[in-house]
Amino acid sequence: PAFSLRPPGLVLPRIMGHRGAKALAPENTLASLKAAAAAGVTWVEFDVMLTSDGQPVLFHDDTLKRTTGVAGAMAETPLAVVQDLDASHGFGRRYGRRAEAGFRGRADCRVPSLEQTVACLLDLGLTPNVEIKSSPGLAKETAEVTLTRLLGLWPGDRLPPLISSFERESLAAASRVAPQWPRGFLAEKLPADWRDAMAALDCASLHLYWRRTRKADVQAAKAAGYAVAVYTVNGLRAGRRLLDKGVDCLITDRPDRLLAAL
Ligand code: G3P
Ligand code: CA
Repeated sequence: PAFSLRPPGLVLPRIMGHRGAKALAPENTLASLKAAAAAGVTWVEFDVMLTSDGQPVLFHDDTLKRTTGVAGAMAETPLAVVQDLDASHGFGRRYGRRAEAGFRGRADCRVPSLEQTVACLLDLGLTPNVEIKSSPGLAKETAEVTLTRLLGLWPGDRLPPLISSFERESLAAASRVAPQWPRGFLAEKLPADWRDAMAALDCASLHLYWRRTRKADVQAAKAAGYAVAVYTVNGLRAGRRLLDKGVDCLITDRPDRLLAAL
């Protein structure tokens, strides 16, 4: 089996890149995966959504505007159009116009398909944490299509992908399509029924919002055999405090900074 709730369970890295390495290159692009690998991580988180013609691509928002500068919804735009969009557009707003200019127009800053992403991951030797993101109403379908496709792409001799989601429907679909791959239960606020839900969905890890992560919950999850990850931690003091609470994995936009210090 790929993982087991018996020790050592799912082994997550201490530091994992977020949307590739969101602060180092435009999020959810091949450039971002390369930046994460160059920073030294071995795992990356990214988001997967479906285009209007049902093709999985790396993308975070329901709408295209923030990262590509183009109006429209992902669920209403076909792959042929999505693949040509330049995803470097939002980068400068947060990380500086000069940095954005360095990415503008590059082929590795277009919105990548799942196939392009897997080829890049294999080339870089990265293991993915695939977050099933889905437009409204598409949680089940997005997981089914993505997992079915990924099963055909991911080599059996590599560490298996981790499949994570906030949507229980997506995790349930993932457990039906790829039961052998570990699943991560994402929670912005830990729900009261998290133990039952994680058991029912046969999850291997709990992924918590870092500001709401309580030591008692981390310890309870660890005692139950789950790995614990937190998102999105970019500061060193916060990172150290979370590791002290027993968290296994910090998902970060700044893998360079956290790897160097932690
Ligand atoms: O997977 C952890 C984290 O990425 C979840 O939040 O909004 O950045 O996808 P978000
Ligand atoms: Ca995500």
